[in-house]
Amino acid sequence: MTNFELYNPTHYIFGKGQISKLSDLIPAKSKILLAYGGGSIFKNGIYDQVKTALAGFEIVEFGGIEPNPRFETLMKAVEIIRAKNITFILAVGGGSVIDGVKFISGALNFEGDAVEILKKRILFKDVSKVIPFGTVLTLPATGSEMNSGAVVTIEATQEKLTLGGSALFPKFSICDPTVVASLPKRQLENGVVDAFTHVMEQYLTYPHDALLQDRISESILQTLIEIGPDVVQNPSDYKLASNFMWCATMALNGLIQKGVPSDWATHMIGHELTALYEIDHARTLAIIGPNLYKVMFETKKDKLAQYGKRVWNIQEGTTDAIAKKAIEKTIEFLHSMGMKTKLSENTRDFEKTADFIVNRFEERGWKAMGEKQNITLDKVRQIVEMSY
Ligand code: NZQ
Ligand code: ZN
Repeated sequence: MTNFELYNPTHYIFGKGQISKLSDLIPAKSKILLAYGGGSIFKNGIYDQVKTALAGFEIVEFGGIEPNPRFETLMKAVEIIRAKNITFILAVGGGSVIDGVKFISGALNFEGDAVEILKKRILFKDVSKVIPFGTVLTLPATGSEMNSGAVVTIEATQEKLTLGGSALFPKFSICDPTVVASLPKRQLENGVVDAFTHVMEQYLTYPHDALLQDRISESILQTLIEIGPDVVQNPSDYKLASNFMWCATMALNGLIQKGVPSDWATHMIGHELTALYEIDHARTLAIIGPNLYKVMFETKKDKLAQYGKRVWNIQEGTTDAIAKKAIEKTIEFLHSMGMKTKLSENTRDFEKTADFIVNRFEERGWKAMGEKQNITLDKVRQIVEMSY
């Protein structure tokens, strides 16, 4: 196992009825920016619960944070915070709203052009320079409620880029699984597949000595396989919803990444598909993931075989045969979760996608990625072309 530090200061509050605790979690006399997305919180009662819990606080509302939040929109919130002397931000939403709030939090006191935060991938490490924020999660998927990363799109240049740093953990996150009940089927499917792929990015590398991390990862994968198709059909079932929510948090709160190699190339390529074609984040992962496992088969086959044996219970055959079967089982699972795994099934005019992505990576100086830094631009091209 490689050396690691585990730091996660987010106060995680899980379960039914927990939104009522908001007034104990936000410092008294805070002036709050309540940030939200396109308005689902008004239809499913979450807004009312939040407003009731925050009676007595001074609140300024900022809505309209898009799925795949836009830099241009978020900068408007930064202006409002400056003009109205806001001291705390409450993100009420899914990954997009929470990520948007992380950006706003960092951008407020950033010296210079805030677009550099994304272009130069600035890491925020000084909590005294960011504005504190908490979250009420409405969509289990990204793990953003308990990590310090975020992804923001620059509309002007159609780029989807990351930011983060230890100062950008939420102060608290309220995770009430009953919010899952109002999610559209498409978002439920997305949530399961995003969480599943987060585990794969950190697990599906090569055999190593971190036995516990592997077992935790396999448990999350198995739980998602067990509940995924059912939670899409019965999102009001508390047993399914609560396990789904906890899996999604555990998939990307840093725990399973400690002491192990990780890949993340599926996400890096996937972000380009969202930036280019607005394909939902999780759906880009379903398009790229299996093709990446195929192109990088020699690097990943030992771990693929472990995954095949332990997660899919494939016991018969050589390492290569089990590894190949494991990829097939993964694709079947993605299909059962409503994913269309070919790019051509998700968008038209895709023929130049590989050229575009490879050129972009080249311009950014991204020459190699993956756990062994052997996903070169040639491999990226093969993976994208295989996904057509
Ligand atoms: O905007 P509203 O009206 O709220 O509707 C949203 C949105 O249309 C809706 N929704 C959310 N909760 C709902 C609900 N509808 C009904 N009932 C509810 N309870 O769902 C739609 C999608 O929301 P969004 O926040 O975009 O989805 P998700 O949570 O999947 O977040 C995706 C974003 O997170 C980034 C992705 O790249 C993408 O931009 N990610 C963030 C990560 C992180 N911070 O660690 C890691 C991930 O890999 C990912 O990259
Ligand atoms: Zn993701």
